[in-house]
Amino acid sequence: MASPERKRKIRFKPHDVEVLEEPGVNLLGIAQINNLYLPHECGGHGDCGTCRVVILEGLDELAPRTLDERDYCKRHPLKKNERLSCQLLLKEKNPSLKSPSHVTVLCPAGIREQEFIETDVN
Ligand code: FES
Repeated sequence: MASPERKRKIRFKPHDVEVLEEPGVNLLGIAQINNLYLPHECGGHGDCGTCRVVILEGLDELAPRTLDERDYCKRHPLKKNERLSCQLLLKEKNPSLKSPSHVTVLCPAGIREQEFIETDVN
């Protein structure tokens, strides 16, 4: 597992929120781990497109589209720099690279902090 200083940074625009990658976790999951909300109407199954992001920097850091994302693209073509965050993984990091690179994504539908849901523990 990559140490924090070896992890890539992911910057979410337009709000300039910066978090660290979580290897093996898709972008939607990384946002959720960091208490950020991205729309995801289909629950992350690659069907709805509401989690779409635009890659502004770091396109080379991304893993290829998943089968579900490719299926989505047949119905709703996406540009090369448009990705479904629920299907978007970063490539495995090259251990020989000394300085971590970063990825910047624009969230057209916006991003906000998860609403805190109080649960009754009694
Ligand atoms: S959450 Fe529906 S396509 Fe990503």
